[in-house]
Amino acid sequence: MTEQDFIPKAYTELISNGKTSWKSPSNIALVKYWGKRKGQIPANPSISFTLDNCKTTTSLTFSKLTEPNSNFSFDIFLEGNKKDHFKPKIATFFERIYKYLPFLSEYHFTIETSNSFPHSSGIASSASGMSALALCLIEVEKQLNPEMGDEFFARKASFLSRLGSGSASRSIEGPLVQWGEHASIQGSSDLVGIKYPYQVHEVFRTYCDSILLVDKGQKQVSSTVGHDLMHNHPFAEQRFEQAHENLSKLKVIFAEGDLREFIKIVESEALTLHAMMMTSHPYFILMKPNTLEIINRIWAFREQSKTHVCFTLDAGANVHVLYPESEKTEIDQFIKNELVAYCENGQYICDQIGLGAKKA
Ligand code: DP6
Repeated sequence: MTEQDFIPKAYTELISNGKTSWKSPSNIALVKYWGKRKGQIPANPSISFTLDNCKTTTSLTFSKLTEPNSNFSFDIFLEGNKKDHFKPKIATFFERIYKYLPFLSEYHFTIETSNSFPHSSGIASSASGMSALALCLIEVEKQLNPEMGDEFFARKASFLSRLGSGSASRSIEGPLVQWGEHASIQGSSDLVGIKYPYQVHEVFRTYCDSILLVDKGQKQVSSTVGHDLMHNHPFAEQRFEQAHENLSKLKVIFAEGDLREFIKIVESEALTLHAMMMTSHPYFILMKPNTLEIINRIWAFREQSKTHVCFTLDAGANVHVLYPESEKTEIDQFIKNELVAYCENGQYICDQIGLGAKKA
């Protein structure tokens, strides 16, 4: 597979107007993507659970312009409110994908988007947001080229999503999606996320993720800046190699359902991600005191209860609490009794593994 595969043939006819709508989920990485090369190429492979409840719904209305506009003509609304300050990000996305969707200059687009999770919850909405928009756009292309097959549709949706936000390439399908070349994962690619192609023990098919909202404020350092700081990072090469090794180890763990080993990899990945932040130049810390309180309580509870609760983190202070569905009642109670006190306004979101994006 190369980038060339995603450049379409000339369209035979351009329809005058239409509307497409998609709902796309967020995802939580088990092996983290942190560091990238030019063109949204990941520095290491990653893998994630697709989520189910944390979703973005996007509708795209399009109408043919009288003259093509290579500066792109569009408006964007979030929960019904016009958001002009999102425009530069979308314009950059359109510039990156124009080569692959040449119809972009032919239409005026109205993008209407809403999230299932609370506003400014600190939950990264770039994965669900960019993938929902990419799906709406590829659906327009399918209307221009109705022969497009489902497999190509999903691949190109992931390819376009990646150009919007790397982690968004992992939100199209589920329950487990892998992105980035890896020697022992057949079909793995830096260009698209793929459905994890090997055996997965049933315990992982219904895994739960309760997202504890520790800090809902704006992050001091964006992911984009964080990725950039992996260039010339003193530990970058070892870290990238470790991600490859952790994926190889997970392959065995997924097949066998060994939760103790799963926990070791997942928690180590989360802490390594934050260790990379703390050892870059300039260095920074995104965890908050309550993040550490929660981690310590999870460790103590796991020891005492002999359950399989563990945590992971994304690029922020919030904690994703992961556990098998069979332990849900016990872990829910533990969260209410011991962890909610460390969440901002006592807020957390119950989610679980999901199957990917759907037409809305
Ligand atoms: C820590 O996908 O948000 O969540 O490609 O610059 O948009 P861009 O970055 P983004 O980075 C996600 C980083 C992460 C780990 C992960 O999801 O793998």
